[in-house]
Amino acid sequence: MEPKKAIVSETEAPKTEAPKVVKKKHADVPVNIYRPKTPYEGTVIENYSLLKEGAIGRVNHITFDLKDSDPFLNYVEGQSIGIMPAGEDANGKPHKLRLYSIASTRHGDDFNGNTVSLCVRQLQYEKDGETINGVCSTYLCDIKPGDKVKITGPVGKEMLLPEEEDANIVMLATGTGIAPMRAYLRRMFEPTEKEKNKWNFKGKAWLFMGAPKSANLLYEEDLQRYLSDYPDNFKYTKAISREQQNTKGGRMYIQDRVLESANELFNMIEDEKTHIYLCGLKGMEPGIDEAMTKAAEEKGLNWSELRPQLKKAGRWHVETY
Ligand code: FAD
Ligand code: A2P
Repeated sequence: MEPKKAIVSETEAPKTEAPKVVKKKHADVPVNIYRPKTPYEGTVIENYSLLKEGAIGRVNHITFDLKDSDPFLNYVEGQSIGIMPAGEDANGKPHKLRLYSIASTRHGDDFNGNTVSLCVRQLQYEKDGETINGVCSTYLCDIKPGDKVKITGPVGKEMLLPEEEDANIVMLATGTGIAPMRAYLRRMFEPTEKEKNKWNFKGKAWLFMGAPKSANLLYEEDLQRYLSDYPDNFKYTKAISREQQNTKGGRMYIQDRVLESANELFNMIEDEKTHIYLCGLKGMEPGIDEAMTKAAEEKGLNWSELRPQLKKAGRWHVETY
């Protein structure tokens, strides 16, 4: 039987070149098709490690089949889904859902429009000499192809891409914060995806990526391919915290890279076609704010005034956790 396709339609880019100053409403973006009381049970298609030999921790790419969902669980780039881990909490109640940024485009990794993919780091920390594993992230990293998983959503309108083909997209990601960025970059540069979406991206995409070690860099081969295929449209700046040092001799973080590129970055930000996306560790927000303040100063700009303006214009997008 033909799957029920309900991919959110691709819209033509506006013909006018005028920048949009007023924040757009995203009325046609799907939300909460599935809620916690009646989640969709999706089947795991694949679940594999994204890390190389010598990496720290565990980060997996996981894909679910959505084709039997009715109503169809469609989504757009930049949204998240909820996952309800199997089992019960300490009080005998079903586990609460956890949100995960969608790492695939609406057309899915196989371009058939009926899958969704996630990029999940297993939460692990030490407490009283014991290793504690996060409930949902461990569940997700351990699931096998064929397993059924309760999915809710999609949710989120904060991280949506603009429609304009000549927009510039600055991305600041740490760790799994790459997930929505992977979807954006596939939409911009992945050949079969481009054929499907008819979105002829003509702007500049600049990814600042923070990872602890080179072996922890996520989707690196794809990003290198985009760099060689689209050298004029894609820039990729890495901050490998445990292999590189900042000017003070400390760990290299993306905010240090932001400072190094202050002039070029703020030339872009002054252009009304530029959007900035921040995703990953909540802890990076003060550091990014400080770097943006210093970088803005170098251009004679005031970040504490500029940031609310960018936010109001729908050009400053933050999803940290
Ligand atoms: P839990 O079992 O829920 O444990 C988490 C709890 O452990 C914390 O609330 C805290 O109380 C405690 N804890 C955590 N660290 C420590 C510590 N060091 N010391 C002491 N206590 C600690 N995650 C991804 O991997 N990929 C994504 O793409 C992603 N996207 C997200 C998008 C959004 C919008 C949001 C809100 C979150 C996202 N997350 C993502 C995080 C994800 O939702 C979960 O929070 C994460 O996987 C941990 O869930 P868990 O069930 O494994 O941990
Ligand atoms: P580190 O852990 O070396 O201090 P991952 O999720 O794979 O661990 O990657 C997160 C990356 O973000 C790591 O390189 C981590 O560095 C880095 N990081 C940690 N804290 C901050 C912070 N406050 N600001 C920016 N980057 C951070």
